[in-house]
Amino acid sequence: FYGSVINPDNLTLYKASSNSLLAVNSEGNIEWIVHDIQDFMVQETLLQHGCVDVELVALKDGQFIMPGFIDTHTHAPQLPNIGTGAQYELLDWLNTITFPMEAKFADNSFAESAYPGVVRRTINTGTTTCCYYGSLHLGSTKVLADVVHSLGQRAFVGKCNMDRNSPSYYKEESPETSLRDTKSLIAYINTLDAGPAGIPLVRPIITPRFAISCSNPLLAELGKLASSDPSLHIQTHISENKSEVTFTKSLFPECNSYAAVYDSFKLLRRNTILAHAVHLEDGEIDLIKERDAGISHCPTSNFHLNSGVAPVGKYLDKGIKVGLGTDVSGGYSPSMLNAIRNASIASKICVMQADDSKSSGQYKDKQLSVASLLYLATLGGARVCDLEDRVGSFAPGKCFDALIVDVRNVTGNPCLWGVDVGPEMTTSLDTMLERFIFCGDDRNISSVYVQGRRIGGASR
Ligand code: GUN
Ligand code: FE
Repeated sequence: FYGSVINPDNLTLYKASSNSLLAVNSEGNIEWIVHDIQDFMVQETLLQHGCVDVELVALKDGQFIMPGFIDTHTHAPQLPNIGTGAQYELLDWLNTITFPMEAKFADNSFAESAYPGVVRRTINTGTTTCCYYGSLHLGSTKVLADVVHSLGQRAFVGKCNMDRNSPSYYKEESPETSLRDTKSLIAYINTLDAGPAGIPLVRPIITPRFAISCSNPLLAELGKLASSDPSLHIQTHISENKSEVTFTKSLFPECNSYAAVYDSFKLLRRNTILAHAVHLEDGEIDLIKERDAGISHCPTSNFHLNSGVAPVGKYLDKGIKVGLGTDVSGGYSPSMLNAIRNASIASKICVMQADDSKSSGQYKDKQLSVASLLYLATLGGARVCDLEDRVGSFAPGKCFDALIVDVRNVTGNPCLWGVDVGPEMTTSLDTMLERFIFCGDDRNISSVYVQGRRIGGASR
């Protein structure tokens, strides 16, 4: 690939380079990257690296490459409900809107007709790694894993564990059946073929829905299952809504916080992904840091379901791993661009509400910069997924999971979603990135690559 490259580095810095040459091998991994290569030097540079007979993708003005987005939290069976239910808060929303839809996935043929569209849409919005919750059903969650696998996205796929405090039509029979189906799903996903790099793109993840919907024996069994394999990921919800927190505390009076519930069952560890974290108390923030668990910030959903504004700046100051999640359909958009925009707004609300006498720290009550937003949507998410060695940015040895972003219109002029914005669009790569982040959409994502393979995009 030859052209402009955006490469996130950390929360304060990304690199923007205009004439980079990036080599991807047949396994889909990055071999090398060199910068400041003028057009006339490209062939010579390739030869110097022993590259003959290679396919060269040369980007045009108005195009750039960036790492694909990492959605650290979404619910595949909820996409059919997207955009409804804003009048409810979490617990009523689950009972009124969400559980009736998820229950339909008892029928595998419903899953077979719904999931290809869900995953295709998620890919075309630029999500190259996705953490999916399925429904509670083994059969339809296998279908989800099959669809993700066949479409070539990198993902974690889990079936919800939920054996209590749910309607009779949408609840698992017992801790034993929940555990049995979880183990079957893990075994099934582990048989899916690993692809060119020998690394499976689809991986299983233990998914206790949230503490409210899991009995103590079930949480204990899931904790044992997790302990039997430290490489197994875990995802759940935490402290999203005040009524949820109150209910959770009433169910676990022996635990002194919501996070302590998961910790007491050995479910809080390096590869645990905690969605929301809106109302955490100081003690449990420290516990999450100590266990090195990650937080999925889901601002669209936190606004839409009236849950609150997560103080992610405070978590970043503590050094807690944070990524972004769309949380469809609590969130009304599968696009990480939308999650980025709402993360920006959420950070501005923190600024507006800040008590100046207490505001200290680099990120607490500060607006998130473009660099921070980009980082959270890519490398930050990779850290939350314990995948930072593989994805989230470009470096030799990492996987080529990337987007080609195109801000031109059909006549080749600079443009965003069909509106020709004139020549100033081409001024700088930084401006192109910022405008893509705040007003681009799927039409500007012309190619989506996972492990070096083009799996989607709106290419013209
Ligand atoms: N808490 C438990 N289940 C869910 C869910 O499906 N969505 C959200 N946003 N929160 C939850
Ligand atoms: Fe969720």
